Amino acid sequence: MTTDSAPARVVLVTGGNRGIGRAIAERFVREGYAVAVTARSGEGPEGTLTVRADVTDAAAVDAAFTEVEDKLGPIDVLVANAGITKDTLLLRMSEDDFDSVVSTNLGGTFRVVKRASKNMLRRKYGRVILISSVVGLYGSAGQINYAASKSALVGFARSLTRELGARNITANVVAPGFIETDMTAALPEETQAEYKRSIPAGRFAAADEVAGVVTWLASDDAAYISGAVIPVDGGLGMGH
Ligand SMILES: NC(=O)c1ccc[n+]([C@@H]2O[C@H](COP(=O)([O-])OP(=O)(O)OC[C@H]3O[C@@H](n4cnc5c(N)ncnc54)[C@H](OP(=O)(O)O)[C@@H]3O)[C@@H](O)[C@H]2O)c1
Repeated sequence: MTTDSAPARVVLVTGGNRGIGRAIAERFVREGYAVAVTARSGEGPEGTLTVRADVTDAAAVDAAFTEVEDKLGPIDVLVANAGITKDTLLLRMSEDDFDSVVSTNLGGTFRVVKRASKNMLRRKYGRVILISSVVGLYGSAGQINYAASKSALVGFARSLTRELGARNITANVVAPGFIETDMTAALPEETQAEYKRSIPAGRFAAADEVAGVVTWLASDDAAYISGAVIPVDGGLGMGH
């Protein structure tokens, strides 16, 4: 990715201190990008700049972006990865269960993409990658808040593609299936076994298998792909 003549592209990954976001940040470091991560707690992997931000707080997002821009330069590649679940059946779902998930997963994406897009527009270059979920398109009992927040990212990326596509800015969605992280480790063992039986690949994926698709979407090879949803789910959604 880096050449002698061109400086390394700058990437920001939200929620890069653990799980899928951390694996994505590690992969970008290996590929020679200048990598920053946002974290509420902990640190990003070795070789990254960690900045503090809660994606539900627009002022904190703005300050984090300014710090990255000051230290690494304008952001070329944005990976909106930070996300949460608050699972329960609809009749038991509180206003807060719904609002907090939507405000983090969808609102957080809005805040970081809006902030990143200013410089991308000015510089006529950008790669925006939104981390959705198989659940956004497949549905999942007990996850109405989460599924709604994740399917919304598809309309988000497609509208962004229509708004900014002519400025050499792409926006794509990656929809992971079940990935080995804290989020899936929290599921009861019987539920994990049941999910594995329904996945054609018969297993959960390593976070790095998602990371490889994300770095590819940021590469020049994917310059003509925009508004797409790329499943990384072992066949669970059959491409939806
Ligand atoms: N694991 C899966 O099987 C799976 C499948 C499909 C999609 N996904 C999606 O992939 C993404 C990463 O999931 P994961 O499994 O890696 O989850 P994880 O291990 O639970 O990590 C979530 C990350 O998001 C950050 N985060 C949460 N709320 C935040 C907020 N308000 N502001 C800033 N950062 C916040 C967390 O930061 P803290 O450490 O500070 O809390 C953490 O870095 C999520 O969007 C998730 O929905 C996961």
